[in-house]
Amino acid sequence: MGDPESESEQIRLKCIRKDGFFTVPPEHRLGRCRSVKEFEKLNRIGEGTYGIVYRARDTQTDEIVALKKVRMDKEKDGVPISSLREITLLLRLRHPNIVELKEVVVGNHLESIFLVMGYCEQDLASLLENMPTPFSEAQVKCIVLQVLRGLQYLHQNFIIHRDLKVSNLLMTDKGCVKTADFGLARAYGIPVKPMTPKVVTLWYRAPELLLGTTTQTTSIDMWAMGCILAELLAHKPLLPGTSEIHQVDLIVQLLGTPSENIWPGFSRLPLVGQYSLRKQPYNNLKHKFPWLSEAGLRLLNFLFMYDPKKRATARDGLESSYFKEKPLPCEPELMPTFPHHRNKRAVPATSEAQGKRCKP
Ligand SMILES: Nc1ncnc2c1ncn2[C@@H]1O[C@H](COP(=O)(O)OP(=O)(O)O)[C@@H](O)[C@H]1O
Ligand SMILES: [Mg+2]
Repeated sequence: MGDPESESEQIRLKCIRKDGFFTVPPEHRLGRCRSVKEFEKLNRIGEGTYGIVYRARDTQTDEIVALKKVRMDKEKDGVPISSLREITLLLRLRHPNIVELKEVVVGNHLESIFLVMGYCEQDLASLLENMPTPFSEAQVKCIVLQVLRGLQYLHQNFIIHRDLKVSNLLMTDKGCVKTADFGLARAYGIPVKPMTPKVVTLWYRAPELLLGTTTQTTSIDMWAMGCILAELLAHKPLLPGTSEIHQVDLIVQLLGTPSENIWPGFSRLPLVGQYSLRKQPYNNLKHKFPWLSEAGLRLLNFLFMYDPKKRATARDGLESSYFKEKPLPCEPELMPTFPHHRNKRAVPATSEAQGKRCKP
């Protein structure tokens, strides 16, 4: 096609309905995609596994947004059609607890694409790192309820997040928690294999994935939800495995050895033979959280059911009596904010950067 920016070169397409060709008008070449030139990059706010995220200003509307550059496979020619389909799906998602994907814009030379997202002040990973004291139980409940609402919405729309973890949970300074970075590994046709093993963490990985299941269901997100709930309560990661073998062993140490009895189909999972699981007859959750109420332990155990079919759904989680007993979940407005943390990310506390009020 030559230089894609060159206006002089005509793009001619074959007509589908009748014979012949037509010329694409220059202003329609990008379809309805705006160019990234319309955004002023303010500062880098994150570098994740697959892309760089900037805080940016939309020069057309003056709105502050997050701009995520999506790395594309160099060998592949443009964006795979399946990815475009999935981006289109993600663009239609609208929920207060899901990061808003506003639009997709193209790079200067059409070689890259950027996702334009609603801007959030913090992510829970850096928040946890910078907090002097752990979240109160009321605050944990407030966060977890919001994540569960977002998950319920995603799962109703047949989207599995696949990579839930604290760094993918964002919080506005109104205390509104939004799940981010969802379905991206799949959505952009980028290999699920991490580019650097350090970044993609094992800690939230469900046992069926570790044991090589090929059928991924929404329950893998629910396992991660359990790990996140426990991490928020304990103020440290629950299962910080350093290898897949170590991860499996940590799970077994905490929950006991799985068996065909409690998890039908377990012994036929592809990788079962590769592990020699330690014999551990006890569930140690209660020892790990001796101060947690019966309802709290019940919820954790429900999220940590070995059998994915028996594991709590987002809806089960939302209905848990843990959220109805004292201490009751706090209002999102009562979430702590940490101005010093914002400085670390070089994000000034401007009012324009504030998200919309968080609707429950
Ligand atoms: N909408 C956003 N608002 C503010 N910060 C964001 C936003 N999206 C991502 N970030 C920051 O960038 C980091 C990486 O973004 P993420 O979408 O998780 O990409 P990756 O797939 O590379 O992990 C996040 O952990 C968060 O700190
Ligand atoms: Mg991420």
